[in-house]
Amino acid sequence: MRTQLDTLVTGALQQGSAVPAFTCYDFTTALAVVGAAEESGRGAILLVAPKTAATPNGLRLIAALRGLADAASVPIAVQLDHATDPQVIADAVSAGADSVLVDGSSLPYEDNIDLVRNVRAALAGQGRGDVVIEAELGGLAGDEDRAFGTDAADNAGSTVADAPAGLTDSAQVEDFVARTGAQLLAVAVGNVHGKYKGEPRLRWDVLQDIAVRTRIPLVLHGASGIPAEELVKAAAMNVGKVNFNTELRTGVLAVLEEQTTAHRADGENLQALLGLWNASARTFAATALATLSR
Ligand code: 13P
Repeated sequence: MRTQLDTLVTGALQQGSAVPAFTCYDFTTALAVVGAAEESGRGAILLVAPKTAATPNGLRLIAALRGLADAASVPIAVQLDHATDPQVIADAVSAGADSVLVDGSSLPYEDNIDLVRNVRAALAGQGRGDVVIEAELGGLAGDEDRAFGTDAADNAGSTVADAPAGLTDSAQVEDFVARTGAQLLAVAVGNVHGKYKGEPRLRWDVLQDIAVRTRIPLVLHGASGIPAEELVKAAAMNVGKVNFNTELRTGVLAVLEEQTTAHRADGENLQALLGLWNASARTFAATALATLSR
């Protein structure tokens, strides 16, 4: 069913839970996520990568996800992830995205604020002041679509002069939230996109510092590879949305690698192979939902 992303996340936090968000490059994965959410009776978020949304087929995928979300028996939001291009944002919203991560985290602080404000004004001009905006403060290392071993310190775009590379500067949080009007805040606390080089070392002290400075829900990107016993702590620090991508891909690709030959031999049985893709993504989504729910 249609839902406002901030309402979904705030409601979950009130129950001590967080809402998982999953990158969907395709409809099979989205069906799996929605299936898992319906089975668990909880809401979830379908993320669309900006490279996907920048193509005509990607906009058709957003429209299809919109239809899937509206017909679901649980609240499902469709979010354009990590967007900077105003045209891609406008097109994705027209196609059916109901929220956007306006990601100016690689920009200087004032430019990050300007980007979020400009997108908000442009959406209002488009008659879409209802679109929920997540903003990001502090830069995350790693690639959003291709996973290589990354360390939080690999991020060159640090905005904090005297802090380890890329960490969100908690001293900026109040000002940033007030001036951007963001409804959710993505933070950099040692998390990275893709695979962690070695063990993830989340800075819970920094997260705690951020959490006391704003009432809006926080968002943890780069959740793949963070152990469940760490993720369960997130909601207590006002992290209401947790983004997954790499681990879901790892599972699906392993299934395809293992099963393709047998399914070719079985009469080019793509239908059954897609069923296994769905099952892998669905199991992953179900586990994430269970981990983050109280
Ligand atoms: P991972 O690929 O590291 O899980 O990150 C996903 C993400 O943060 C999407 O925005």
